[in-house]
Amino acid sequence: MRPKTLIGSTAAAGAAVVGYATVVERNWFALRHLDVPVLRPGARPLRVLHISDAHLTPGRHRLLSFLRSLDALQPDLVVNTGDSIAHPEAVQPFLEALGPLLDRPGVFVYGSNDLYSPLPKNPARYLWRTSANDRKRHSPDLPWAELGASMAAAGWLDANNRRGRVKAGDLDIEVAGVHDPHIRRDRYEKIAGTADPSSDLRLGVLHSPEPRVLDRFAADGYDLLLAGHTHGGQVCLPWFGTLVTNCGIDPERARGLHRHPADGADDDGRPWLHVSAGLGTSPWAPFRLFCRPEASLLTLVPRAS
Ligand SMILES: [Fe+2]
Repeated sequence: MRPKTLIGSTAAAGAAVVGYATVVERNWFALRHLDVPVLRPGARPLRVLHISDAHLTPGRHRLLSFLRSLDALQPDLVVNTGDSIAHPEAVQPFLEALGPLLDRPGVFVYGSNDLYSPLPKNPARYLWRTSANDRKRHSPDLPWAELGASMAAAGWLDANNRRGRVKAGDLDIEVAGVHDPHIRRDRYEKIAGTADPSSDLRLGVLHSPEPRVLDRFAADGYDLLLAGHTHGGQVCLPWFGTLVTNCGIDPERARGLHRHPADGADDDGRPWLHVSAGLGTSPWAPFRLFCRPEASLLTLVPRAS
């Protein structure tokens, strides 16, 4: 093949991949179904809808449509692990898309992108560095308080550096959460202490799955930890998987259901960790490759013993 032809073919293939990642896969929403054996023997299953990282901007009609469809799953509990908005005018469309989900029991924490509007940047740079130190502004400029107040007014538990109790299905659930560890807003000392062993389930929630915080939830006896932030790597390779996580979690646990810590015996009491690959992307990195946007329906079922 002539050099000019080779260059032309390579450029055409690259453009096709970028087009697919930006136009097709970014809007190709998946619903993941997972069973989590975390309840006491004999308990009735509980359906938990886990959403994260919508990064909503006006005009994302397919994303809004997918969000609207999720109430039909009839979850017993909804957990939103943050980064819901990416624009000052995204709060109302996000709430309207949640719609009747807000009438169900719910829990939320913030991600850094609920506070700070996205800044233009090289969309590929997350491959070699994290965004943890990107927040040069002193004050949040997105309406995170309006977002949180609306979800709380609907009855969802604000778990940002807080503990609380949620009744969902037949279960009395102890919930604890932290504000986003990615920007060091977590204050675990405010929620520290052994999780109530008399509750039916002990649930920890956070945006960025930083191991230093996951370790503390595990030490306090939480059964199930839910997080987002990673976007599953956002750009993955076939047969290889996640390249980067943009936080301290290892690439193997950047999405899906695992245990924390990663290593140990099956019955040693380590909590389950579910990391959502999320629904969206930063508007300045509007693509996903081999890592479809997702929501997850976790069916909590009894442990084997
Ligand atoms: Fe995110």
